[in-house]
Amino acid sequence: MEIKQNYSLEKHNTFRLPVKARWFLEYDTEEDIVTALRDEYFMECYKIHIGAGSNLLFLNDFNGIILHSRIKDITVISENEESVCLKVGSGVIWDELVQYAVSHGWGGIENLSHIPGEVGAAAIQNIGAYGVEVKDVIDSVEGYHIPTLEKQVFSKAECQYAYRSSIFKTEYADQYIIAYVNIRLSKKPLFSLSYGNLKDELAKYPEISLQTIRDAIIAIRSKKLPDPEQIGNAGSFFMNPVVTEEEFQELKNKFPDIPSYPASDNKVKVPAAWLIEQCGFKGQAYGQAGVYDKQALVLVNLGNADGNEIALLADIIIQTVEVRFGIRLRPEVKYIC
Ligand code: EPU
Repeated sequence: MEIKQNYSLEKHNTFRLPVKARWFLEYDTEEDIVTALRDEYFMECYKIHIGAGSNLLFLNDFNGIILHSRIKDITVISENEESVCLKVGSGVIWDELVQYAVSHGWGGIENLSHIPGEVGAAAIQNIGAYGVEVKDVIDSVEGYHIPTLEKQVFSKAECQYAYRSSIFKTEYADQYIIAYVNIRLSKKPLFSLSYGNLKDELAKYPEISLQTIRDAIIAIRSKKLPDPEQIGNAGSFFMNPVVTEEEFQELKNKFPDIPSYPASDNKVKVPAAWLIEQCGFKGQAYGQAGVYDKQALVLVNLGNADGNEIALLADIIIQTVEVRFGIRLRPEVKYIC
């Protein structure tokens, strides 16, 4: 375990905001979690847990403790002819897990290639892309209850997964530290190729395999999403809004070109990127905050933005989209004050 004081978070948030944390605590084992939770000062201090900081917007320096997992082991806990169950440390880099799975011929997460972040945060926010969500492979999640120090194993059903959400973002928000995520991958994978332009990209490859799906998705994402090493960003800044069929018909009457995807419960998902682009924001800069020119759903730090500048731009977008389309966008990115 390692604790640092007045620690720069520049490398721990993909917007690359140069904010500082009063304390930064990294734990390596489950025992470390329990030791930290037993400490009285720690228990009383304002605290949050971060992964790779790829979905966070810091509005100020953080005057409390930031926790970060360095539990990085991956173990096969059971397997049969059909599938393999892996116990994965919450601090494992998500894309390294995808690479590991693909290289072993285990399917289920190849469509989630190249998503930034770490395994614990992936399970909390139910990351998704190209028709797959991480909940599709999650068996259970192991965490420590901060107030009581007790370890609890949550089945997939108990995690209450929904679009970019779980019980760890709702009823139990900030109450658990995730140590391990248990995932089940298939040894006879069924490929999921129906989303967007994945099939077109795959046509450029000699065969369809876990590896070529991974390569195609990395190629598509690299074209559309900026690399945080070059331009600070947090991927999709807003969630794609979900509306009822009736609401969608009304929108379609007014805006015949509006794209859509089916969502659960007979609802309709509208791409937020389209709404934002229609309002003229794509490629625009507001001070040091900007809207990425290749994907309108991505807000970027043009160099020296501070968190409030990015939040202000997000507010302007929310208000403009609401006036024009009657839809209120909700940030997917979590604001930290
Ligand atoms: N579009 C525009 N303008 C743009 C970009 C897109 O009008 O600048 C429209 C197009 O009609 C396009 C549609 O939006 O067909 C959807 O765009 P895209 O396929 O790029 O996906 P998205 O809805 O913007 C979602 C996820 C991404 C995920 C992709 C691919 C959310 C909030 N975002 O984006 O996830 O990678 O689908 O599955 O659901 C993330 O969460 O950080 C993330 C990158």
